[in-house]
Amino acid sequence: MMEVDFVRSRFIKHFDGKTGNVYASPGRINLIGEHTDYNGGFVFPGAVDKGVMAEMRVNGTEDTVMAYAIDLKDRVDFKLSDPNGPRASWARYIYGIALEMRKLGVPVKGFNIAFAGDVPLGAGMSSSAAMESCFAFGLNDLFGDNKVSQWDMVLAGQATEHNYCGVNCGIMDQFASVFGKAGCLMRLDCRSREFQYFPFKPDGYRLVLLDSVVKHQLSGSPYNDRRNSCEKVVKCVQAKHPEGKFETLRDCTWEQLDEVKDEIGADDYRRAKFVLGEKDRVLAVCDALTEGDYEKVGELMYQTHEGLSKDYEVSCEELDFLNQIAKENGVTGSRIMGGGFGGCTINLVRNDLYRKFIEDAKKRFNEKYGHEPKVYDVVISDGSHKVC
Ligand code: GLA
Repeated sequence: MMEVDFVRSRFIKHFDGKTGNVYASPGRINLIGEHTDYNGGFVFPGAVDKGVMAEMRVNGTEDTVMAYAIDLKDRVDFKLSDPNGPRASWARYIYGIALEMRKLGVPVKGFNIAFAGDVPLGAGMSSSAAMESCFAFGLNDLFGDNKVSQWDMVLAGQATEHNYCGVNCGIMDQFASVFGKAGCLMRLDCRSREFQYFPFKPDGYRLVLLDSVVKHQLSGSPYNDRRNSCEKVVKCVQAKHPEGKFETLRDCTWEQLDEVKDEIGADDYRRAKFVLGEKDRVLAVCDALTEGDYEKVGELMYQTHEGLSKDYEVSCEELDFLNQIAKENGVTGSRIMGGGFGGCTINLVRNDLYRKFIEDAKKRFNEKYGHEPKVYDVVISDGSHKVC
């Protein structure tokens, strides 16, 4: 995690020399359950030790926000009453979350904010959710007496993506960032919003991310397109079964999917098939974890990769290559993590294979693409909190 002094020194320098409160929120990993959240399925994320830290202070104005992005050395001032909001994409997260928190009854007025992050951007580790939940947490504390619930902050973060950033995302990322707990993964049922903490200490194994450094960009992307495919399939199933209630693919069975196969077209069929399989895989992973069967967990991770690559089509050449290297090194499990179209693979690897795997991946990736993948060891950490 970031150093408070780093953020504080910039906050002091770029504003009026006064200090404010400091808040932090993490990025996330996801062991399994990809593209299932907006389909009412299950996900299995955990917060990480990388995230966003922000210093914030009420500035006494009615609605002027003075914002400084430390890493980008970019300053933007804007008014919350401006219907268009700021243009800088990072500032739109602040604008969006402030308006969403107002909708929840928090009387947000003008404030100063400086923030920095160490969660890699575009790596599929939810840098944007880390911002949203950090800012939501801060505004709730500064203006709202902390009355807004954790779940409402999750939903405000998601609404920020939908309404101001053009990404029609699910709730996994914001959920993980807000609810994360050190040492625990969380199994969330995205339909009922029930969740359980799962202590995750895989004896003899570790989780490591390999970042292809292919930047994924979810806004205006095929991400929304995938979601549309899923929704189209649900509508078709609903039309065939007017007596039932089909809100998401979670409500559809394999048989019902097959009934509409000819109407929905091959792409949408394959995508929906992936989602139904992925929902079952999360539950199978939970059972395997309970039994300490990490080899089974790994096998299911490889199945997810295959599905994301061939059926859901959200992989890319570099990620498939990293997955192949993992397989050839005898790594227990490996798959694309997050929305896809670039970013990281998540790898469950036996301790005794770790060094050789990382060396081989670096060498072969470098030979092929001219740079090494970045390596992040996963440390499962706490969710949003006030630092000081
Ligand atoms: C992105 C979205 C999430 C989720 C994942 C895919 O991270 O923000 O809501 O859909 O992709 O599992």
